[in-house]
Formats: sequence, C-alpha cells, structure tokens
Amino acid sequence: MKALYFKEFGTSDVLQYGIVGDPVIGKMDLLVETHYIGLNFADIYRRRGTYHLEPHTPYINGYEGVGKIIAVGGGISAEQIGRTVLFVDVPFANAEHVRVPQDHAIYLPPELDEKLAVTIGLQGLTADFLAHDIGKNKAGAKVLVTGISGGVGQILAQMLTADGIEVFGMASSAEKRELAIQRGAREVFNSRENDWVEAHAGTFATVYDGVGVTLPQSLELIGHRGKVVFFGMAGGNPPAIDLVPLLAQSKSILTGDLWDYLTSFSERKHRSQRLFRYFLKQQITVSEPTIFPLAEGKAAHEFLESGKNIGKVLLQP
Ligand SMILES: NC(=O)c1ccc[n+]([C@@H]2O[C@H](COP(=O)([O-])OP(=O)(O)OC[C@H]3O[C@@H](n4cnc5c(N)ncnc54)[C@H](OP(=O)(O)O)[C@@H]3O)[C@@H](O)[C@H]2O)c1
Repeated sequence: MKALYFKEFGTSDVLQYGIVGDPVIGKMDLLVETHYIGLNFADIYRRRGTYHLEPHTPYINGYEGVGKIIAVGGGISAEQIGRTVLFVDVPFANAEHVRVPQDHAIYLPPELDEKLAVTIGLQGLTADFLAHDIGKNKAGAKVLVTGISGGVGQILAQMLTADGIEVFGMASSAEKRELAIQRGAREVFNSRENDWVEAHAGTFATVYDGVGVTLPQSLELIGHRGKVVFFGMAGGNPPAIDLVPLLAQSKSILTGDLWDYLTSFSERKHRSQRLFRYFLKQQITVSEPTIFPLAEGKAAHEFLESGKNIGKVLLQP
C-alpha cells in the first residue's frame, strides 16, 4: 500500500510518500480502506518530534480517517465487510489501509455523509468533551473561544450557542471573524491586536484556549471564579504561570486530552452520537474541508501550519 511517512523529525521536508508494508490485523481488528484522512495539529507536533507517538519504522502519521471495512479478524463477523467506519484515535492513518481495533471504530448513522463525518470527527469530539466534560457552562454564561474559526473552534462555538451559552471569539482575519458572527457568535475580537483586552478583562466566565501562547491573556479575561480551559498550543507553548495571583481571585486552569475520554467502544459511541445529533438537527454547520491528495501531504502540512485554513484539512488516498 502507499502511505505518507517520515524517518526523522523536522519540517515538512521530512515527509515522503511511497510504498510501505500492509498492516497485519489481529483477531478483533478491522482492515479499513481509507477514503478520507483527517490532518490535525497533533500530526504537526508529532512530525516536529514534540508529541507522543507510537513506535513504527518508517513512522506513519495520522490518527483519524473514514473508510470501508475490507477485511476482519477471526473474532469478528464477516458481515461487517463493506460497512463504513470513522476512527479518530488509531495510529498510522496516513495510508491506504489502516488496522482499526474494532472497539475504536465509530459506526456512522446512515443519514451522515462520510466526508462530513471525518470533517467533524476528532475536532467535533474534542469540542464535545471540552463543552460537556470540562467547561460545563450553564445556559446564559458568557464565554470566549480562541481560534473561533478553526476546526475545533467552529464546532465548539456553535455547540455552546445551541446549549444556550453566550459565545464570543477571537480570530485573526476579517473573513474569519465574519464567519464566526454568521454562525452565532456575539462579537469576535482581532486575535492579532490587544487594544480590546483591557475593556473586556474580568468579564468572561470561561475562556476556551487552544492557541496556548495566549494563556496569560485568557487568565486576564476571566472574572473571579472563572476558568480557562487550556486545550492546545496552535500558536506556541504557553509561558509558565504563577498560580499564587490566581488563588486570590479563585481563577482556575483546566486542561484535557480527548484520548482520556475515548476509553471504550461505548464511550466512543455515546460521545459521537451526542456530537452527530447537533449536525442531524442542523444546529451546527462547518466550512467545506480543504482536500489534498495523500501524495501531497507536505503541502497539506504547510497549509495547516500557515494558519490560513478555515476549518478542516483532509488527505485523500
Ligand atoms: N486537547 C485535545 O484533546 C485536543 C484535540 C484536538 C485538537 N486540540 C487542539 O486544539 C487546537 C485547535 O485545533 P484545530 O484542529 O481546530 O486547528 P485549526 O483548525 O488549525 O485551528 C487553530 C486556530 O488557531 C489559531 N492560531 C493562532 N495562532 C496560530 C498560529 N501561530 N498558527 C496556526 N494557528 C494559529 C488560528 O486562528 P486565527 O488565525 O484566527 O488566530 C486557527 O484557526 C490545537 O491547539 C490542537 O492541538 C486539542
């Protein structure tokens, strides 16, 4: 099979495309022929060597994809062959074929298109656990989402709005800010300027911060008893934070990794069904994904790293 892989950490120059060995499936595994593969920020961190990864030579990046089951292990009924599954936490996904442990497979409702499913998959499940397990905001609460036009940001903002929460955002370009407003945000601030920060300091119950370097500013924006939900560093690692001044204002920093919540087949099923409901009820819409051939993975990495994308980047084998 063909795959996108790398042999050493570094810039997008380390990525190669070519023939590698087919995955070997075990008794409780599915062999999935990928139709679309999700490219995520974590893939960039892994390529740079700054994130955990499963040992594999050469290293095949990617954890998210959608496709058709083409073979099953001995412990699984052959009737499964031909079904479409989504997966968001399975390594070595930047390839034509992926070994998916059956308990990691998310079976799609028939009314959900496979391209939409992979467009919202990992980012949507991230938005879901950030909103429902970590943020747990009450209806009427005032919250701010950094990178509001990004993949997680778009879904999170609309999910919170559908849950009755007042959503504000930050984005870098007028186009991105306008998009977020159209999708229900009350106001979207320019993330590349800070002339608005002083006037809004202390006014938010929660800031959802996936940009990272913005953590000190996010702490300034929340009020007493407020919380920052820190979930990523698309803009770079946050500086070290002194907790003592936060104590005086009862401010908290919460963090979370989706993988600590996707711990079983039933967790994946329950969480994905909760997410899909927002889409089937048309409470959330997302931008069309930008699709690159898997063979052009280098260009896809550069596009995602540039921050120019609005929404999801997919690779197509
Ligand atoms: N904790 C978890 O389990 C989990 C799971 C999935 C993703 N994440 C994290 O969630 C964050 C968002 O991921 P995503 O998939 O939604 O990515 P995305 O679609 O690329 O969105 C990231 C956003 O970050 C903003 N940004 C600010 N500074 C940036 C910079 N220097 N370079 C690139 N972008 C920059 C961009 O918005 P502006 O241009 O408008 O500023 C961009 O829209 C990432 O940090 C990712 O690691 C966490």
